[in-house]
Amino acid sequence: MARRSFGTSRLGAVLFALVALAWLAPQAAIAQTGEAIGRGIVRFEPRGFDERAWGPSLALVREFDAIGDVPAGWDATPDFGRRDDGRFTARLAIEPGTSLYGTGEIAGPLIRNGRISECWNTDAYGYNEDSKSLYQSHPWVLGVRADGSAFGVLADTTWRCEINLADGVLFASEGPRFPVIVIDRASPQDVMEGLAELIGTIDLPPLWAIGYHQCRYSYNPDSRVREIADGFRSRSLPCDVIWMDIDYMDEYRIFTFDPEQFPDPAGLNAYLHDNGFSSIWMIDPAPKREPGYFVYDEGTAGEHWVQRADGSVYEGEVWPGWCTFPDYTRPETREWWAGLYKDFIALGVDGVWNDMNEPAVFNVASKTMPEDNLHRGGGDLPPGPHARYHNVYGILMARATREGILDARPEKRPFVLTRANYIGGQRYAATWTGDNAAEWDDLEASIPMILNLGLSGQPFSGPDIGGFIGNGDAEQFARWMGIGSMLPFSRGHTGKGNRNKEPWEYGPEVEEASRLALERRYRLLPYFYTLFEEASRNGMPVARPLFFADPVDPALRSEDDAFLLGEDILVAGSVTPEADREVCLPRGIWRSVDLVGGSDNRHLPDVMIRGGAIVPLGPVVQHTRDPDALNGKLTLLVCFDEEGVADGTLYEDAGEGFGYREGEFARTTFTARRIGDSVRIEQQRTGGTMDAPSRPVGVRVILDGVVFDAGGFDREGVIEFDLEGVGAAR
Ligand code: GLC
Repeated sequence: MARRSFGTSRLGAVLFALVALAWLAPQAAIAQTGEAIGRGIVRFEPRGFDERAWGPSLALVREFDAIGDVPAGWDATPDFGRRDDGRFTARLAIEPGTSLYGTGEIAGPLIRNGRISECWNTDAYGYNEDSKSLYQSHPWVLGVRADGSAFGVLADTTWRCEINLADGVLFASEGPRFPVIVIDRASPQDVMEGLAELIGTIDLPPLWAIGYHQCRYSYNPDSRVREIADGFRSRSLPCDVIWMDIDYMDEYRIFTFDPEQFPDPAGLNAYLHDNGFSSIWMIDPAPKREPGYFVYDEGTAGEHWVQRADGSVYEGEVWPGWCTFPDYTRPETREWWAGLYKDFIALGVDGVWNDMNEPAVFNVASKTMPEDNLHRGGGDLPPGPHARYHNVYGILMARATREGILDARPEKRPFVLTRANYIGGQRYAATWTGDNAAEWDDLEASIPMILNLGLSGQPFSGPDIGGFIGNGDAEQFARWMGIGSMLPFSRGHTGKGNRNKEPWEYGPEVEEASRLALERRYRLLPYFYTLFEEASRNGMPVARPLFFADPVDPALRSEDDAFLLGEDILVAGSVTPEADREVCLPRGIWRSVDLVGGSDNRHLPDVMIRGGAIVPLGPVVQHTRDPDALNGKLTLLVCFDEEGVADGTLYEDAGEGFGYREGEFARTTFTARRIGDSVRIEQQRTGGTMDAPSRPVGVRVILDGVVFDAGGFDREGVIEFDLEGVGAAR
């Protein structure tokens, strides 16, 4: 990526040198032991590690027993030690030519070699590349060696933890000695699968959550929400979700509604549903400290609040003024919190947005609660100071929220968006990259931020399209729509006081670019959904770095103006005010495709298909409640490789509910072969027991910049045609 203010600043360089020096300071070595816990996965423990006091890992999906010794010839063994500043360390040396990624949510370029960040969930309003910590903590690094083999290192600690990539991979954590898990496998994809074995995957989201979302701080009163919804429909701009930010609440009291501005939330939700929208409403963690307010009274009676070191209730300022903070380490508190969603969800709320859960506290230098505050734990979590539980406040909240939604509406898939999270937190919630700014640098950073989150186990994320802080301009907004509509979580949002940023607010040219961008996303929905299903099975990111296509090619290692969707679609961005940027493409055939017309629109990124791929496309719908989203005409986009072969997969299910877990889905594999001018495509059912919807099917073959359209399958599941016969269309 081009580096302007996001590039290495002088301050950044000085800081870098200082921290690198700190790392070079003498360390006391600590011996370690290791045991294999999976294929190519070894868990290491420093001597003196206190397993009993440590408690269960909040990152891992379950406990892992040893399956054997460290494999013979294993050379990815970390050295444990203690730095002069008292932090315990684990360091893995790297070979020359190794590229480093991951480290969770972090601004700046994709490749992380030489970078230093810190896991410490922070309300990072207006962050930039030099921000040490953002909202989430992923003490995890993915390394890709020169030969394309790969490894991953997970520091299994919730404490504040520096990730120093100045020379190898170094974790330096406050708190006690910590274990490290290393995955060493043949490829980055293989390592991602190993990570998913350890930390789990996302649950398959409802189809509507993969559509486009429209948000702002805030749409109020409720008539404005209706107006926004109508605005999308009357202009034929596809959209699935409208979001309610904090101003729907009665003076920012969570689980309440402003009696004047939102007197009838159930009626508003019904209106949105009738018009094909789902609704997502915000819930922050900290209720107002106010006797007589039911959330505060219940929480006080249940002793649910985080305490000061002296055992009194901790109070901090957030949106409603003085607040108390649920202690989500307590099982009773999580259960109480989950129960609060029952009446809320009964109003027809479709999804929940958990914000401010680092937790953010106003008017204090640390931006959060004191580190010696007390969390009481329970179940298998030991009591501990906030310093220990700070980074998992968000994941524990999101987990309780998800359970609450599921209890309230067991037949539907919950959707939670959280700002703070911890590695493994993709099991409970999707995420967005917080309060970015309407600056070109932030647009540019959108891509590597989402890629590194994906490489850290969180495949369902996106930026605030259009920028949260400030106004930006029309050109930038249009480009952001072009890129943002291709990212896994696609939502426009902006802050209070900014100009309106709905796609029609910038005039006809931007509205048209936005329409095309959104239509592209909806056309790609069957493919997106297939990728989300894959992510839910094996942890593979939805948006992937280009080097996934060829991990040996050094030229792809730092390409972050472009990204892959799955293996078969490549999106090459226009993320700067300048016109075209050179993107380094993976080897092989990549052909630009025109998904909905207007592909020459200068605001939109180039979308390419891989030679050898068949990509399933749907019809353009305005929202996923339209039956055509699941049953409408399917178009198979076919691009042959050098051998004249192509294949692809389509995953289909009800788009909602849990029937898919009992096999109610259909996985179909398509294979195509071209011999001379004749093309034969076969479909084969490869999974699930659901009757595949009998949708009309068409074929679109991309050859040398020429498009051939042909009809559908015969009864035997075969399409045969002659390229000459179907004629060419541009
Ligand atoms: C925080 C969130 C932002 C939200 C605002 C008001 O700044 O990051 O997205 O709009 O709070 O709730």
